[in-house]
Amino acid sequence: MIAVDGTSGSGKSSTSRRVADALGLAYLDTGSMYRAETWWMLSHGVDTSSEAAVAEKASLSRIEVGTDPLTPWILLDGDDVSEPIRTDEVNAHVSLVARVPAVRTRMVQMQREAIIGAPRGIVVEGRDIGSVVWPAADLKLYLTADPAARAARRTLEEGSADVAATEASLAARDAIDSTRATAPLVQADGAVTIDSTFLTLDAVVAQVLDLVAGLR
Ligand code: C5P
Repeated sequence: MIAVDGTSGSGKSSTSRRVADALGLAYLDTGSMYRAETWWMLSHGVDTSSEAAVAEKASLSRIEVGTDPLTPWILLDGDDVSEPIRTDEVNAHVSLVARVPAVRTRMVQMQREAIIGAPRGIVVEGRDIGSVVWPAADLKLYLTADPAARAARRTLEEGSADVAATEASLAARDAIDSTRATAPLVQADGAVTIDSTFLTLDAVVAQVLDLVAGLR
């Protein structure tokens, strides 16, 4: 089991999917689960700035997530929500929803079930995977990059033109994710840090595959 944590826009998803595919492992994007939960809260008119309001509704959504690295999918109450969970609206609210302990408890349980249900191994990416979800991971990675580099990449991916707005949105999420009381974004004990500011995706994937080869 490989745990990939790190800052927003650091290339966790692209790296994790490529590594999982190369090694024949399953893949779990835990951020998509918090995003789906956030979309549920927004669709049901929940005030995400109120921890109590989010906690009260925290058990009502039904989230199902695929674990094939080539074709990730996510269903919310049976509907495909791959597109709405990537909107600016969800970007602006997801860290507020993800800081609520009642939300995290449920997500962590689902994530542990997915890990146990992947007998050939799995790459799991998020913020608290090596620290909370699965501290016994065979390999823990912490991916990061300079904020400007992360914003530039994310802007390209999203086809948007506003790098400054993207950088502000990533910084706002990182600030909440790193300072929340429950399961903040940290470099887990024993995690290997990869700073991808000056590295291509291919180079990062190659480094990770080297680390995996070194485990054997
Ligand atoms: O990985 P992604 O950027 O899609 O994650 C969206 C948000 O979900 C993060 O900014 C964070 O608030 C939350 N998250 C989390 N714990 C995880 C994965 C994501 O709190 N394991």
